[in-house]
Amino acid sequence: MKISDEQKQALIETARDFATRAYVPYSHFPVGAAILVEDGTIIGGVNIENASYPLTVCGERSAVVTAASQGYRTIYAVAVSAPRAAGTTPCGACRQVLNEFKPEDQSMLVLLDEGDGWQETTLDILLPSAFGPRDLDRAAE
Ligand code: THU
Repeated sequence: MKISDEQKQALIETARDFATRAYVPYSHFPVGAAILVEDGTIIGGVNIENASYPLTVCGERSAVVTAASQGYRTIYAVAVSAPRAAGTTPCGACRQVLNEFKPEDQSMLVLLDEGDGWQETTLDILLPSAFGPRDLDRAAE
């Protein structure tokens, strides 16, 4: 899938918009995420904290769970917006969860909100030599 500049802009704007609805009473560190799935739909998520702190769900994983619940299985791009810290990258756990749904034929684009624009990287750069579904397929052969 070719990702247009308009789609990138829409991903960043969706991530910023979602960040305003983050549930962050403990860290006060809102994170919004937006992912682009196989039919061009953009799905957002926010971090949702919990009084039992480790049960917190990150913005990126919340978006992935929503997308997968709707039947989507391929994520072409993800945007992350942390308004209090420009350039915030997905945490390690989220990188692994995103890896599950990366496209077979291209790398997953990752957009990092810089406030006045965005930085572009890829999941392969953020999570090199990742373990994923294809490793389990190999074991079954
Ligand atoms: N957080 C995310 O939502 N995504 C990340 O990739 C980094 C961390 C959240 C978890 C917690 O609610 C807050 O940011 C501070 O760690």
